[in-house]
Formats: sequence, structure tokens, C-alpha cells
Amino acid sequence: MKKIELKDLNRNLPELLEKRWALLTVADGEGCNPMTVSWGGVGRLWNLPVVTVYVRPQRYTKGLMDAGDYFSLTFLPEERHDAVAFCGAKSGRDTDKVKECGLTVLEDEKAPYFAEGELTFICRKVYEQDMAGECFVDAAVDAKNYPGKDYHRMYVGEIVAVLEK
Ligand SMILES: Cc1cc2nc3c(=O)[nH]c(=O)nc-3n(C[C@H](O)[C@H](O)[C@H](O)COP(=O)(O)O)c2cc1C
Repeated sequence: MKKIELKDLNRNLPELLEKRWALLTVADGEGCNPMTVSWGGVGRLWNLPVVTVYVRPQRYTKGLMDAGDYFSLTFLPEERHDAVAFCGAKSGRDTDKVKECGLTVLEDEKAPYFAEGELTFICRKVYEQDMAGECFVDAAVDAKNYPGKDYHRMYVGEIVAVLEK
């Protein structure tokens, strides 16, 4: 993985998120826990380059995100989609997903990430807020996505490094 400038990134991020999915990874004690996400965004906010991710309260990752100051978002190559699918089906509560997927953790940045990655954003948490039913302008989107009222928490992280292979 080589450090690049965000402005030099030439990838279709909405398509990558939709089709390839990504690993949202936070330190967990000595190790770390990757969780698959496909909802999120890369953009600008408060004059900062940012990544935004959304985590439901029942995820093990939620507690880690709340406790930590940094997170990473990693896109693995297509041939490792097995690992991304695994990290979206198993919980770090009872599974060592890094070990099961045979991923190699790199720790030379502020958040753990993976040597197998094709593209990684390292992010510093700057804002977090729970979504709320009363904020939906379109009630149908609320009803469809939150029948259990388990609203995502939104985390906005400043992109502090971009690494690409
Ligand atoms: C394609 C895909 C996308 C997902 N996107 C999200 C997401 O954006 N937010 C979320 O909270 N869970 C999302 N999930 C569910 C979590 O990845 C899944 O529940 C995971 O097992 C949680 O892991 P954890 O308990 O170790 O945090 C997604 C799952 C898949 C398969």
C-alpha cells in the first residue's frame, strides 16, 4: 500500500461501495475487528475531506466506534470478496474475523488496516450522531429500513491518509 493524495484518487467510489463493499475496521484491544459496510460516503464537510459511515446499535463494531478515535475503511480486491462477505455475516463478539479470513493487519497508521487491501482510508472521528425517526422527510424510507427502530449511528471521520495498491 502506498500513500497517495485524495485528489489523485481515480475510482468510482459509489460503485465500489455498492458492488465491492468495504471493511470498516476499528482497534479492539490488542487486535481489531473488521465489519462489512456498503452504505457510506466519501466527500467534504466543514472544509475537511471526510468518510461517513453508519453503524446499527446491535453491531459489535458500534461499541468500538464509540470508544475509539480512529477507524479505517478498506476495499479488498474482488478475489477476496469471500472475506468481505464473512465480515458481514459474523460478529466480532464471538469470532476472530481477522484470523478466520487470513487477513494481515498493518499498524503503521492511526487505525489498523489490511495488507490485502486495494484502497484504504484512515479516518479521525470528528462527529457522531444517532439517526432519528422524526428527522425523516420520507416516512417510507424510515418504515422500510427501521421497522425495529434500530437507527444507525452516523460517524463522520476526517480522512487523514489514503493508501492505495
Ligand atoms: C453488504 C453488506 C453491507 C452492510 N452494511 C452495513 C452498514 O453499512 N452498517 C451496519 O451497521 N451494518 C452493515 N452490515 C451488517 C454487518 O456487516 C454485520 O451485521 C456484521 O456481522 C457486524 O459485525 P460486528 O458485530 O463484528 O460489528 C452490512 C452487511 C453486508 C453483508
